[in-house]
Amino acid sequence: MNNALNAEAAASSVLVDHLVRQQTLGRSLAQPFYTSDAVFQHDMDTVFMRHWLCLGHESQVANPGDFLTRTIGRESVIVVRDREGVVRALANVCRHRGSRICAKESGNTAMLVCPYHAWTYDLTGELRAIPHAGDLASAVADPDNSLQLLQLRIVQGLIFISFAVKPLDFSEVERAIDSSYGPYDWKNARIAHRETYSISANWKLAVENYVECYHCGPSHPEYSTLHALAQPTDRIQAMNDAMRRRTAGNGVNIPEVEAWWPSSRQGGEAVCSFRDALYDGIQTGSDGGKPVAPLMGQFKSYDGGVTSAHVGPASFLVAYADYGVIYRFAPLTLQTCEMELIWLVAGEAVEGRDYDLKKLTWL
Ligand code: FES
Ligand SMILES: [Fe+2]
Repeated sequence: MNNALNAEAAASSVLVDHLVRQQTLGRSLAQPFYTSDAVFQHDMDTVFMRHWLCLGHESQVANPGDFLTRTIGRESVIVVRDREGVVRALANVCRHRGSRICAKESGNTAMLVCPYHAWTYDLTGELRAIPHAGDLASAVADPDNSLQLLQLRIVQGLIFISFAVKPLDFSEVERAIDSSYGPYDWKNARIAHRETYSISANWKLAVENYVECYHCGPSHPEYSTLHALAQPTDRIQAMNDAMRRRTAGNGVNIPEVEAWWPSSRQGGEAVCSFRDALYDGIQTGSDGGKPVAPLMGQFKSYDGGVTSAHVGPASFLVAYADYGVIYRFAPLTLQTCEMELIWLVAGEAVEGRDYDLKKLTWL
């Protein structure tokens, strides 16, 4: 980072520190948190360039040459499986003049060819060819001309990336996801459907709206007939106890994980996972609560429970006994972001035979 950028980042930091000191606890964030370019830049530097972000499921790059690209703010990432089966995350920025290399959202390719002057990279990100190289011939062998490699981890089939050079410790997330979603066998799940929504709002509004369910009663009456969020604590406790007994009856144990507020300050990625019961008699998160897809993983019966996880700033996971949903949020600009929903079902499930897509994605 050059001096001007350092000065800009320092000024943003001062502004955000000031706004945080002014902020009254328990009240909505002050307007500049959503409208200031400097705060947005600070969000990008300290949140999205630092934390782990879920980009999808491994089945989206199942075969050698399969790739997907995703945008986070000004950054673009290519996730690609090479010929040996290794999945990598590469910056979607050509080493020659900085052009975007992949414009497509997904596909299969033998090489990554920059559209501008056709520098050609292999699937590991190494530069392999420069057309009409002339004086540049030696550049092919220069490892500095490989595409920039980003940190990537895959856990239970979920692809996480981090832009950080020294990423936050991911081990607590791995443990939490394995223990929470391993019983549903998300690793071998298949994607039934994906949907991306463009949102004309700052990313914080979208994420805040996702994590607060105070609005669920008035705004989502269908959801609220299944999920018992607004009931008195003792009723919820009794329902949760009954749900845990049903889950245990499947031979499944899903511990709750709380590694949220302190963990990123201590160098680890923030994660929490928790379980809630659906209303008595509701088996899953479908319209009416009836099964919509074959049971997943170790489940032999519908336990009427939902397992939720929050990972870092923008990745959320929800599992019922017969299907799951990945929710991922990505800022694009100060006032725009996108939310992607990815519905997962058991790996063997076949649309039309085992599930009706409309019923699965009803909400
Ligand atoms: S910018 Fe990619 S080849 Fe020139
Ligand atoms: Fe909502």
